[in-house]
Amino acid sequence: MDAIEAIFTRQSIGKVKPDPVPAEVIERLLLAAVQAPNHYKVRPWRFVVLTGAGREHLGQVLAESFLAKFPEVPPGALEKERNKALRSPVLIVVGVDKPSEPRVVEIENICAASAACQNLLLAAHTEGLAAKWRTGSPATDPAVKQFLGFEPDQHLIAFIYIGYPEGEVPPVERPSFDDRTVWMKE
Ligand SMILES: Cc1cc2nc3c(=O)[nH]c(=O)nc-3n(C[C@H](O)[C@H](O)[C@H](O)COP(=O)(O)O)c2cc1C
Repeated sequence: MDAIEAIFTRQSIGKVKPDPVPAEVIERLLLAAVQAPNHYKVRPWRFVVLTGAGREHLGQVLAESFLAKFPEVPPGALEKERNKALRSPVLIVVGVDKPSEPRVVEIENICAASAACQNLLLAAHTEGLAAKWRTGSPATDPAVKQFLGFEPDQHLIAFIYIGYPEGEVPPVERPSFDDRTVWMKE
């Protein structure tokens, strides 16, 4: 599959098998991710790869955080929160470094880390994997950041759920650029 075909056939896929993904495949995804452009070559991306019981520990953090926010929550809702971390056999959380010198701009670090996420999604697709980029409340949860080893003011920009697709994945209609583009020719 060439790059253009990968771009046009990639789509978010949430339903995956529980089958593990070999470590060397995950490493290929990470290696593709870090080929992304980044200003001043600061390589501002940070990855935390959760598999196996690592996901269960995150699930526990999610459940505790949810309970702290909503003490009256019914057990079913708490389990739902805990199981978010178990949606796929691999979960890669992507965080962004804060600027380490005056010339580095935070938004540019976020842009670079986002480009790394897209590389990772495309690489996953070419490996025959399903992947879904999610954020939601865990991305801004201080307890989640602490558990994953991030500072409270660091951005978590992606929770990328990865696994082998479950069942057929019908193609989706791809969007156009027309309504988002202005041409300036003169
Ligand atoms: C920064 C970011 C955050 C996202 N967060 C979520 C999310 O929390 N839940 C979700 O279902 N999808 C999330 N998505 C995935 C988008 O919903 C998805 O990419 C979009 O619907 C386009 O579909 P496609 O990926 O199949 O092209 C996120 C995507 C990005 C770029």
